[in-house]
Amino acid sequence: MKRALFITFEGTEGGGKSTQIKLLAERLSSLGHTVRALREPGGTPLGEEIRHLLKHHPTGHGMMPEAELLLMNGSRAQLVREVIRPALAAGEIVLCDRFSDSTVAYQGYGRGLDLKLVESVIAFAVGETRPDLTLLLHVPLSVSETRRLSRQKDQPASTDRFERNDRAFFERVERGFQSIAAVEPERIRVIDACREIETIAANIWAHVAPLLGNDSKQA
Ligand code: TMP
Repeated sequence: MKRALFITFEGTEGGGKSTQIKLLAERLSSLGHTVRALREPGGTPLGEEIRHLLKHHPTGHGMMPEAELLLMNGSRAQLVREVIRPALAAGEIVLCDRFSDSTVAYQGYGRGLDLKLVESVIAFAVGETRPDLTLLLHVPLSVSETRRLSRQKDQPASTDRFERNDRAFFERVERGFQSIAAVEPERIRVIDACREIETIAANIWAHVAPLLGNDSKQA
């Protein structure tokens, strides 16, 4: 039987996570794995409503950091139980665009909430369901900012509440991701996301392949 795996993708905006998730999903599927690609916040009907509230709904404008933390984890608690655990139990490979490390980086480091408290809310939401591997797609802040601003210029209507934060916020978030990665180097692999798309995909594959069964390492 194929080994179930839970792989998360993390990083500040503009690191190309969705492109890499798509490429990895295609490669794994071509080897016969059943792949479930998800995103956070979201991934369930309830979670997608919460996502809209967090990112775009006008009532979200005055949202307090504590409410933001709880809503993120409300979406997560639902996703873990409704989708991730059943998928893993069925032997699927779950690829998730952001998970609990984003909460530590954004609500902990970015918003300045107490890190121990953030960790305990996450623990309540996820229980034992933790990623086997996390790929942290790293781009320098200047690159992330350029990509974010050009997207805002091209598609002003799609700009969300998080993207409107200032540079100092994103600096804290980035520092958060680096600190998390330093503490858990076995689980979290930092990927240089400034390189060519194919090079990044090859680097990612080098971390994923050793976790797969022997039958699917080659292709
Ligand atoms: P994205 O899916 O387009 O990256 O948007 C999700 C936004 O939500 C992004 O700005 C990061 C933020 N976020 C948090 O602040 N905390 C979290 O726990 C998660 C999952 C996302």
